[in-house]
Amino acid sequence: MTITIKDDAGIEAMRKACRLAAEVLDAITPHIVPGITTLEIDRLAAEHMALQGTKSATVGYQPPGYPPYPAHLCTSVNHVVCHGIPNEKTLKKGDIVNVDVTVITPEGWYGDTSRMFLIGDCSIASKRLCSLTYESMWHGITQVKPGARLGDIGHAIQKFIEGHGLSIVREFCGHGIGQKFHEDPQVLHYGRPGTGEELLPGMIFTIEPMVNIGRREIKELNDGWTIVTKDRSLSAQWEHTVLVTPTGYEVLSLSEGSPAIPDFVHSASSVAA
Ligand code: MF3
Ligand code: CO
Ligand code: CO
Repeated sequence: MTITIKDDAGIEAMRKACRLAAEVLDAITPHIVPGITTLEIDRLAAEHMALQGTKSATVGYQPPGYPPYPAHLCTSVNHVVCHGIPNEKTLKKGDIVNVDVTVITPEGWYGDTSRMFLIGDCSIASKRLCSLTYESMWHGITQVKPGARLGDIGHAIQKFIEGHGLSIVREFCGHGIGQKFHEDPQVLHYGRPGTGEELLPGMIFTIEPMVNIGRREIKELNDGWTIVTKDRSLSAQWEHTVLVTPTGYEVLSLSEGSPAIPDFVHSASSVAA
């Protein structure tokens, strides 16, 4: 395992990449309403990327054993856990959808972030799932500082989620990111405190917990990408890209449209973008 340490120029380049990814989410947010299709969301995002001068990292993305990914972003609706492929189906009131955007800047740096969207009025259970998943991501983020270990992040997320009777997906994880989409380390969303790689200033990785209302087991659909919950229970995910700073962390994928940071996140100086 080789975790890249970004220098000042790399960090500045990643600030830009991650902000631009977040701004794609900002741009499409007003359009994510009942009646829109996920393919229309994809098209709007593609237009905004063209305007920014970024490229989608997901179009044609093909890890070993996968077919090329066909879209500019991922749209994971209701019981879809992740990697949902945009299609012609309209979103309807009560749906929840994760939109996951990864852009590449002209300089070759990757920014990766995702948010949940509630379509019209949603059930109490859906709202609770989305907000607890969001909080769990921040419980992970607030562990980040030099000397902490990856297991501290996973443990904080797992403890919070399982403490609320929800389950954490184990097959997918956060990841290092920079001049490649997916780098070392793997950032598990479960684990034991004090275990795993030690965090050092200049590391950049994503934290992106996938949380199910029901059981944690998943299955892959025949398209080779879409991951759903085995029991068809609802699933949610949020994702930020985070830098380890000399004193703590900096969340790189913040933008004007980012939802409010939870109250328990106190260290305001470390969260400034
Ligand atoms: N953006 C996803 C992540 O957070 C990866 C999507 S790969 C795709 O790592 F091909 F499905 F788009
Ligand atoms: Co992502
Ligand atoms: Co990611």
